[in-house]
This record gives sequence, C-alpha cells and structure tokens, in this order.
Amino acid sequence: MASEQDVRARLQRAGQEHLLRFCAELAPGPRAALLAELEPLEPEALREHCQRAAAACAGPPGPPPDLAERLQPLPPERVGSVSRSDPETRRLWEEEGFHQIALNKVAVLLLAGGQGTRLGVTYPKGMYQVGLPSQKTLYQLQAERIRRVEQLAGERHGTHCTVPWYIMTSEFTLGPTATFFKEHDFFHLDPDNVVMFEQRMLPAVAFDGRAILERKDKVAMAPDGNGGLYCALADHQILEDMGRRGVEFVHVYCVDNILARLADPAFIGFCVLQGADCGAKVVEKAYPEEPVGVVCQVDGVPQVVEYSEISPEVASLRGPDGVLLYNAGNICNHFFTRSFLQVVTREFEPLLKPHVAVKKVPYVDEEGNLVKPLKPNGIKMEKFVFDVFQFAENFVAFEVPREEEFAPLKNADSADRDNPTMARRALLTQHYRWARQAGACFVDACGARLPELLRVHTPEQILTSGPALSLSGSEEPPAVCEISPLVSYSGEGLEVYLQGREFQSPLILDENGVRELQS
Ligand code: UTP
Repeated sequence: MASEQDVRARLQRAGQEHLLRFCAELAPGPRAALLAELEPLEPEALREHCQRAAAACAGPPGPPPDLAERLQPLPPERVGSVSRSDPETRRLWEEEGFHQIALNKVAVLLLAGGQGTRLGVTYPKGMYQVGLPSQKTLYQLQAERIRRVEQLAGERHGTHCTVPWYIMTSEFTLGPTATFFKEHDFFHLDPDNVVMFEQRMLPAVAFDGRAILERKDKVAMAPDGNGGLYCALADHQILEDMGRRGVEFVHVYCVDNILARLADPAFIGFCVLQGADCGAKVVEKAYPEEPVGVVCQVDGVPQVVEYSEISPEVASLRGPDGVLLYNAGNICNHFFTRSFLQVVTREFEPLLKPHVAVKKVPYVDEEGNLVKPLKPNGIKMEKFVFDVFQFAENFVAFEVPREEEFAPLKNADSADRDNPTMARRALLTQHYRWARQAGACFVDACGARLPELLRVHTPEQILTSGPALSLSGSEEPPAVCEISPLVSYSGEGLEVYLQGREFQSPLILDENGVRELQS
C-alpha cells in the first residue's frame, strides 16, 4: 500500500490535497481506509475530472440553439412496432429470437449500479419488493423470467439452453446484491451463469472544482453512470467471458422496470433479422411533455435526446397520422451485438461525453462538521449507456406497448409517478389482463362478477385529471391476480389453469398451481 506521503504527492499534482486535511487526526484504521480509497486515483485523470466537472457545470445550460433544425424522427424502415405489425410478422420475430436463445447465443445484462436515491432505500433497488401478494423482489421476478424464457426456447427446439445473466453493480450494490443472491440460492439459477462485475466510481466535485469529502475519512464517490458499462466490460473481461460461452447478442436493461422482458425473443428476433448491431426498445410517449428521452436522429445520426433539450413546440409536433413526431420514448432496454460492444470498448468509449448531474452531496466543512446541504452543492459526472447509439452502423428501434413492458420504479410513494404503488398496479393489471384473455372470470366477496375490461380513459379525462393517468399503473386493477413468471413469460400457457373458471381475488398462480388467498 502507498504511504501517506506518496498519496499526498499525487493529490498535490491533481490539485486535491485538501482531501487529506483531517488525515493526521484519524485513527489508524480510518486513515488506512482513506489512503486506500485515494491511492488508485490517477493524478492527471483526477485533475482533469475535477476541472471538467466544474467547467461543465459553469457552462451554458440548455440545448444547442439549432437543435430543432437538426432533429428528425428515425426513418420508418428502422422501426419495428408490435402494435402495428401483423401476427405472422410477430411470430417470425419471436421464432428467430427463440432460435438464437436455444443456440445459447443470447445473454442479458442488468444495469444495477445506481444508487436509487429517489426511491430512498439504503439497499440495492433490485432487492425492493413493491408489495405483491408473493412478496417477490425485482431481482426474483427477473431471475424467474430468465428461467421461463430458457424453458420456452428449450421446449421449442428440444435443447437445454442457458441465458447467462451479467449484472453490473457498483461499490454500493455489489456486496448486498451478492449476499442477497447467495441467501436466495441464486433463485435456482446456476451461479456459474450469474456474473456480477463492478463499475468504476468517480469523486463528486464542488462548484469550485474541489473533490468533496463526505466524512473526514471518506471521499464522496459516485458510480460513473450506466454508461460506465463500457469501461466495466473491459475492466473485467466480460466480453471475453461472453465469447467463451458463445454469446453473440446482449439484451441490456435497467433494474427498475418491473415489466422488463428479459431476453425478449420478439425484440432479439427483430434486431437479428434486421441485421442490427444496436437497438433500442421504445414506447410511445404518453403525452408531449412526458419526461423521457426520445430516440431520434440528430444530423442523421441515431441518438437519445433528453426531454429537457426538446422545446415544447417541437415535442408537440404531430405527423400526418396525428401521432407525435417525436414519440419514441427510450425505456433503457437495448440490444447489442457482442462485436459492437467490442468496438465500443476498444475505440469509442473515450469519446463518450459525461453528463453533469448537480446533486445535494453531504460533506464535512473546514472545521470537520458534517453538513447536509439544503441546496445542490456537488457535481456528479455520469456517462449514459445509450450514448453509443451514434456509433452503430445499423441502428433499429422496436416499439412495444407501454402497458405490457414499461413501469419503472424511480420514486418513493410520495411522488405522483414511477412509484412502488404504480409499479405493483402495472404488474397486477397486466396479469389481470392475461388471466381474462385466458378465459378466467373474477368475482368479488359477494359473488358479483368483476368487470371484464379496465376503464379506457378519454383524452378529456386525461387532460382534466393530468397526463399521468395515461401511465402504466395509474389505477388499481379490478382484481388482484399475480402470475409467476415461472408459469407465464408474456401471457402464454394460462388457459390450462384458468379457462372457464371463476376466482375470487386475491389470487396467485405459480408453479404449484392456483391459490385463492381468501380461502
Ligand atoms: P437511474 O438513472 O434511474 O439512476 O438509473 P438510479 O441511480 O437508479 O436512481 P437515482 O437517480 O439515484 O434515483 C437507471 C438505471 O441505470 C443503472 C441503475 O441501477 C438503473 O438500472 N445505473 C445508474 C447504473 O448501473 N450505474 C450508474 O452509475 C447509474
């Protein structure tokens, strides 16, 4: 381990010597911990990072003024749509996807390094459970979807196949995630096929360009954004691991979308048949000002443009069919070929521009008192996973129905969107829909039949009650019916359990069959 003197000399070169200002008064343990944290920081890189953060934050806010003229929707031939395609086309996509899965060529990659500050829990978001009758966590739902999709592909092709699960974690999430998986016996997946790896961390920086000490013995560090994926893939030789397993196609997704279809055969199949090297799943924006990034083109190059960069006038533009022109909402659900990821990690990663997030970062003041700032005081620099779209040679987008595939868990229940209640409702509403389609009927405690269809809101109702009414999970389903992913991946195979039967809510359908929880 480097001596205090060495570390001090390196920090001096980076202009960050203040990080050691309480070093002399620390006990040996905390002092060693601080030095160990500081040692790997390269002086030049640290200097550049801090200068860049302060400069980016001081720079002119807002989008380039001429963005509106440079913006275009993706050309229609680059976009597949589940709702606008015929059943035969959808069958072909799915068949191709299952075929690739059966050949062991498909992996899933979870981005789970985020701090989940908005949700406000102290543990990784994947360990969160939104209050389902089964009390399953996000990690468990995802593990079970992997098992089911392997089973479906295996049955179709008479093979035993594996979808390896790569999980990118950070200093915050690796330890608890690894322990959680062990405690739950990897949710019956083979631990050899679950590969966790850690992304890098970067210091948070104050507006004056000085890295922040969050305690006398600890620098305020934050993960380098979900676009830290590309460095982390290289750091841990993950693409080599994929190569050894024969993986060619990677489905990358976020931890917080409770409806995420891991290794979705339709998405994989569409991208493979299009010969795409990079693809994004999108949902139609619910309303023009919805705060989601838009997948589109700038100067003919595919990109995600942040909602804040698009003016309200441009966001409201509609095509001749009345549909919003920029309606492809990014849901952080991406397809990459392994060879594209190879090129990105080798050549393009350094070209990715970090984005600036200004946050409240607790710190120790000059006297050593802990301060919890009331206003944002710190800059975090993050790369975004989708910023590599610009390097794709053959980029495609795949539009899916929001109510089937997108209900993100971002906030605590005190917020009016993307909260635990909405995530739970979105999943249970989907399962209610699937159960009805499979011929189930639900009655209330008095035996009265519950409605077949959920209410459909008119544009006027949405306008008066707020556009959030059109988001997944904005209302409770008529009955509580939870279907285990081990039984059904996307609504298939339910008739055998449900057709022509009458059930009382709440109901669970899992690998042990149907259970009415009241009885
Ligand atoms: P978000 O942008 O929602 O961030 O991440 P977050 O950290 O989860 O939540 P807040 O902003 O602190 O409330 C979108 C996805 O990217 C992952 C997250 O785990 C989530 O799956 N992510 C984010 C990373 O893997 N690493 C990061 O550094 C940041």
